[in-house]
Amino acid sequence: MQRRPEPELMDTPEQAEAYARADFRNSNDLFMRLLDQHWPERGMARREGCKAIDLGCGPADIVLRFLRAWPKAECTAVDGAAAMLAEAQRLLDAAEDLKTHARLVQATLPDPSLGQQCFDLILSNSLLHHLHQPEVLWDSLRQLGRPGAFVLVMDLMRPPEPSWVEALLQTYAAKEPEVLRADFRHSLRAAFEPAEVQAQLRAAGLADTLEVRVVSDRHLAVWGQLPE
Ligand SMILES: C[S@@+](CC[C@H](N)C(=O)[O-])C[C@H]1O[C@@H](n2cnc3c(N)ncnc32)[C@H](O)[C@@H]1O
Repeated sequence: MQRRPEPELMDTPEQAEAYARADFRNSNDLFMRLLDQHWPERGMARREGCKAIDLGCGPADIVLRFLRAWPKAECTAVDGAAAMLAEAQRLLDAAEDLKTHARLVQATLPDPSLGQQCFDLILSNSLLHHLHQPEVLWDSLRQLGRPGAFVLVMDLMRPPEPSWVEALLQTYAAKEPEVLRADFRHSLRAAFEPAEVQAQLRAAGLADTLEVRVVSDRHLAVWGQLPE
């Protein structure tokens, strides 16, 4: 099935609100499990000073989960959409004890002002399929991560046929509101296949240290350390 890109930013208040209210527990649990299993320096984050960044943070559920698991770390949460950041701010405001460890930044990648090689950990969930030029994500990893920084990127993967898209919708979004079903359909069609992501990593010079894995019936993940 041919890739059909969707708009990059989710910047209408209706779209951001529907997304923030949706139940992404399964996929966000999976993301956190992968981080816990594969991040070799997770012990370091139990001490002060670990700097993480979440690219395309949306309503910041992953940011909060990360800070609950590693409360001494700091996390910069980046999104290009003001409407999403408003949702993120609401969630963080309700987490009194953690919110001073999170910094929300409105920025559209690529953005050199986010910093140069200063983060120990780069997280990104469900951003890649939004990008019209996927190399923007891989170049941003090199820009933002210090040498050896750990990277975890997870995203939907594009099914081979339209009938699979409908089957996934039926399985995972049958009871969701139409705005979310439409988002899910568009996202599956905009997503990349694992082999395409592998080619992107090769082109970015990251294929030696980052690996692509299929981690569910609809997700792929990329993890590993940036070159030293
Ligand atoms: C599907 S949401 C994922 C949100 C969140 N990471 C999660 O796991 O729920 C993708 C987010 O990426 C943001 N986004 C898309 N393209 C972007 C870009 N070039 N720079 C920054 N944010 C972007 C969108 O505005 C949206 O909030």
